[in-house]
Amino acid sequence: MKLSVIGSGYVGLVAGTCFAEAGNHVICMDVDEKKIADLKNGIIPIYEPGLEAMLKRNVDHGKLTFTTDMKHTVHNSDIIFIAVGTPPDEDGSADLTYVLAVAKAIGQYMTHPKIVIDKSTVPVGTAALVKAEIQTQTDIDVHVVSNPEFLKEGAAIDDFMYPDRVVIGTDSDEVGETMRQLYAPFVRTGNPIIVMDIVSAELTKYAANSMLATKISFMNEMANLCHRVGADIENVRRGIASDRRIGKAFIFAGVGYGGSCFPKDVKALIHTSSKYDYNMRILTAVEDVNQDQKTILIPRILEHFGGSVKGKTIALWGLSFKPKTDDMREAPARVLIKTLHELGATLKAHDPVALEEARRLGLDKMVTLCEDNYEAIRNSDALILVTEWLEYREPDFEYMKKNMNSFAIFDGRNIYNPEKVRSKGFTYYGIGRQ
Ligand SMILES: NC(=O)c1ccc[n+]([C@@H]2O[C@H](COP(=O)([O-])OP(=O)(O)OC[C@H]3O[C@@H](n4cnc5c(N)ncnc54)[C@H](O)[C@@H]3O)[C@@H](O)[C@H]2O)c1
Repeated sequence: MKLSVIGSGYVGLVAGTCFAEAGNHVICMDVDEKKIADLKNGIIPIYEPGLEAMLKRNVDHGKLTFTTDMKHTVHNSDIIFIAVGTPPDEDGSADLTYVLAVAKAIGQYMTHPKIVIDKSTVPVGTAALVKAEIQTQTDIDVHVVSNPEFLKEGAAIDDFMYPDRVVIGTDSDEVGETMRQLYAPFVRTGNPIIVMDIVSAELTKYAANSMLATKISFMNEMANLCHRVGADIENVRRGIASDRRIGKAFIFAGVGYGGSCFPKDVKALIHTSSKYDYNMRILTAVEDVNQDQKTILIPRILEHFGGSVKGKTIALWGLSFKPKTDDMREAPARVLIKTLHELGATLKAHDPVALEEARRLGLDKMVTLCEDNYEAIRNSDALILVTEWLEYREPDFEYMKKNMNSFAIFDGRNIYNPEKVRSKGFTYYGIGRQ
């Protein structure tokens, strides 16, 4: 099939590459000229395991091309995915400016009927808005489908190639069938393609992300209670994880969730519910808990240093909002760096892949960015583990002991064994741990 993907970010680039891998001819379009020029030169603008090799293979086979030319994109595709950003507006609602700009441009250049697919995460009613926007420009028939994306950054290629499910929202049986054919190569193991009405599909994505965010904030509240009553959240977690109704995934306490999706999608769902005169009390609490959680370690750090971090050097391991990505949108590390910098601490930080992104965000004005994680702890008075990258899990405590000024570890993801860390001569602080 002749496809195009408009918006070549985390979602668009992965989706476009995977569709090409499945045998389709795909045009990835973006307004960002540098991004497209880089892609044409084989430079991948994001860190995503497995993407580079797959992308280059499909470019070499002539199945994947890149352009900034919208007219060329629309003329040369029958199925058009919209995968542009939907950032939060000031009131928390999803900003549809980019989605609707794309819709208008599609309408301008359409010369024959198309299927247009909302892959961006968009609120209830957006497919209808997209259709209306296209039809301000043309009378040619267009079907607008909702096809939310569930990939996780860091595992995006696997998630796209082997999805747990594909959700399709459409009001046309024929279009539903075309979508089934498009996704058939990705579900050969029998995972479902769930075809439903458009509004339910739009809401499904928000329900999924809000449920996951709820699990995290619930565990963080439990951790905060553990801290007060002298229990250990890791024991509590193990105790509940074996209940199949609860499950093992996504019940780790920590310094809060970040990223481009959970924070904005929780806010957007709260906004949608208020628009329909309903107050989603649970989600308001999920959001509040997460905001507080990002600074949960600050009082403990201050207490450890007798009330002030002035003159102290603090190392941070991990800047991205989660491992295996360079994405720092809404990352807890950003809040911690800003807060500790304002409190007068000297900061050093390492991340395996996000240093460039940290520089782009101007964080190097507040923190020295180190190429090596041991360089970050050298002459430091404490370490904060912010992102649970695999390479931080078994550090060389002997080396750290020799090279740090004083020996405190604030484990923002509960990845260390407190007894082991203490036996190495460090003071250990976790999240909700004894
Ligand atoms: N990142 C994720 O893990 C993830 C997962 C599932 C769903 N989503 C959703 O997918 C959407 C895209 O997210 P992302 O993380 O890929 O965003 P992103 O910021 O990485 O990429 C968006 C791209 O769209 C481009 N763009 C903006 N306006 C454009 C226009 N008018 N024409 C062409 N290109 C344009 C931007 O230049 C950018 O390259 C969002 O709605 C997001 O919520 C993201």
